[in-house]
Amino acid sequence: MLIMRESRVIPLQAAPSMGREARPLPPAWSAHAHGAPLDGSPLLDTLARPLRDLRISVTDRCNFRCGYCMPREVYGPGHRFMPQATLLSFEEIERASRLFLSLGVRKLRLTGGEPLMRRDLDQLVRLLAALRTPDGSPPELTLTTNAALLAPKVAALKAAGLQRITISLDALDDAVFRRMSDADVPVAQVLQGIDAALAVGLMPIKVNMVVQKGVNEDQILPMARHFRHTGVELRFIEYMDVGQTNGWRMDQVVPSQEVVRRLSEAFELAPVLNQAPGETARRLRYADGGGTVGFISSVTEAFCGDCNRLRLSTDGRLYTCLFATEGHDLRAALRGDEADAQILNRLQSLWRARTDQYSAQRGQALPAPTGGRRIEMSYIGG
Ligand SMILES: C[S@@+](CC[C@H](N)C(=O)[O-])C[C@H]1O[C@@H](n2cnc3c(N)ncnc32)[C@H](O)[C@@H]1O
Ligand code: SF4
Repeated sequence: MLIMRESRVIPLQAAPSMGREARPLPPAWSAHAHGAPLDGSPLLDTLARPLRDLRISVTDRCNFRCGYCMPREVYGPGHRFMPQATLLSFEEIERASRLFLSLGVRKLRLTGGEPLMRRDLDQLVRLLAALRTPDGSPPELTLTTNAALLAPKVAALKAAGLQRITISLDALDDAVFRRMSDADVPVAQVLQGIDAALAVGLMPIKVNMVVQKGVNEDQILPMARHFRHTGVELRFIEYMDVGQTNGWRMDQVVPSQEVVRRLSEAFELAPVLNQAPGETARRLRYADGGGTVGFISSVTEAFCGDCNRLRLSTDGRLYTCLFATEGHDLRAALRGDEADAQILNRLQSLWRARTDQYSAQRGQALPAPTGGRRIEMSYIGG
């Protein structure tokens, strides 16, 4: 079953300005499609949110089968992953990233699926690290990985220009870890990846732990103890209702407040001041100087209000929200004969028309978007 094929995808080449047959356009592409050049006005969406963060899914494949993301019942031997020819090439990703940097993007995050399964990823990192924002600075370049393949690759990634890394790890206990990742990889291999990342100086490292009720709650304190005083920031993530395949239920979510309560019983926690806007995690610090912990509470405390993220799927579709049902086909434009200026105009239109605030609507019991199937995280990029 190829889940993402069931979502609605809006072809970029439907725009009349391309001289093709005129068809009705979705508002996102049509609003400014006839394209004056960039006018220098700040690029904001309908909720006055700027575009800062581009998440790039480089593969829909993964060597893990985490039940909350790619459950084996769905992503088993019968699942058809995307054929190579449909994937954006490194050069196409570089071009798209360059265009987005000119529109205000400051952070590029490589993700997936498992990004380290994409061959020669360091070559892509090298291309992206050479890009510059309009003021001449390099973009913030980071990677999210399960780290199973990290230790032998991390030196090349760092040498290619990778600046930071986020590693997903749901448990220290090997049995709990294997149950959640549903893969024949010991937790020690992930810990070696983290050590290797520390050794090459990829700091600060973040570790993401999805907390699921009755599954790995007992790992909250061991994980906190393990990463205190190491320079690694542990971030607790609420289990989200992303995609259609994980069978999510609210009663499987451990609210961040509950995690804070449990941590507070063991450690004295204090607030962190000056959090940057658009940061997904709220942070607290250990009062004894043991570092910080983060909480990503997209279920109980939606952060749509300052969401500045755009996602580029493995096959070149743009998604303005993690919970989107519709993508916008950038690959056709990249592979067609469109000049950069024309694509830029369309990208601006897409962002200016953006209205998404799925999590906030879920939290406020407002009517949530309906219609298509929600996109899977392994395809859209976590
Ligand atoms: C989709 S993964 C892709 C990158 C890489 N394979 C990894 O696991 O780090 C990115 C992040 O999304 C998180 N994630 C996936 N499904 C989730 C869900 N249903 N709820 C919360 N977080 C989820 C993962 O734990 C991971 O930290
Ligand atoms: S969370 Fe990451 S490691 Fe786990 S199945 Fe999804 S893509 Fe793979």
